[in-house]
Amino acid sequence: METNSLVQKLSETKKYIRSVSDIKPRLGFVLGSGLGHFADTIENSVAIPYSHIPYFHSPSISGHHGALVLGNIGRLPVAVLKGRLHAYEGHSVEQVVYPVRALASLGVETVFLTNAAGGILKMKVPGFMVITDQINLSGTNALSGPNADELGPRFPDMSEAYDRKLTKLLTQVLDKNKISHKKGVYAGLSGPTYETPAEVRYLKRIGAGAAGMSTVNEVIALRHMSVKCVGMSCITNAAAGLQKAPLSHKEVTGNARAVEKQFIAALQGFAKAYKN
Ligand code: HPA
Repeated sequence: METNSLVQKLSETKKYIRSVSDIKPRLGFVLGSGLGHFADTIENSVAIPYSHIPYFHSPSISGHHGALVLGNIGRLPVAVLKGRLHAYEGHSVEQVVYPVRALASLGVETVFLTNAAGGILKMKVPGFMVITDQINLSGTNALSGPNADELGPRFPDMSEAYDRKLTKLLTQVLDKNKISHKKGVYAGLSGPTYETPAEVRYLKRIGAGAAGMSTVNEVIALRHMSVKCVGMSCITNAAAGLQKAPLSHKEVTGNARAVEKQFIAALQGFAKAYKN
């Protein structure tokens, strides 16, 4: 995507979204595999299918729906990306991060990114991991190519990819709601294969707490645009080699659904506690 055309495209996208709803979201959410029902809890909501939004592509895999939901949680205006794109579906990394760039263009200060992931740290399954940092092993970087200087710097700082204060706030919300969790580093791989046991041993040695197939490039694009990030993985399975049964997408979405109530309570609680 050419840089001035990226800026132009984002402005067209924003104009279209604003023509449907004049809500000016402050907090954004990205919902991972099997975690879409949180969007149904948004008040006064307007759902815009991705297929209606200029330059948005639609996700293709089951467990993902494509809609931007705008509305409120209490007094806080929010925007929810229900369903995300993955490079393994054939989307370019620019297309993968375009929806979060659109959230940034709409003026969100913070994006709460969620995903389904395989647990490498010892933890409850299904359960949750608050993401403290990330390792980009996707083989791509959202900022490869010419830099759109209007959006952010050529060499963005990533020393606080996940905002420390907001991460602390999230752990407090989880504690208050008695939602058991660990804190750890999210390793973002390309997928679509799950990892091999040898890859999981490697990930453990380099400090990863969970492995997944998303999120890392979205965080890169958001930090590029100076948007704060906070992240939580739904640990749907122990990573390959750490559980006996083979991994399947059915297990991932089924286990995500099994902890859906806690997941929704965590996101709702965070939005209610959020002040920036
Ligand atoms: N690995 C990668 N991605 C995943 C996993 C996993 O074990 N579980 C859910 N998404």
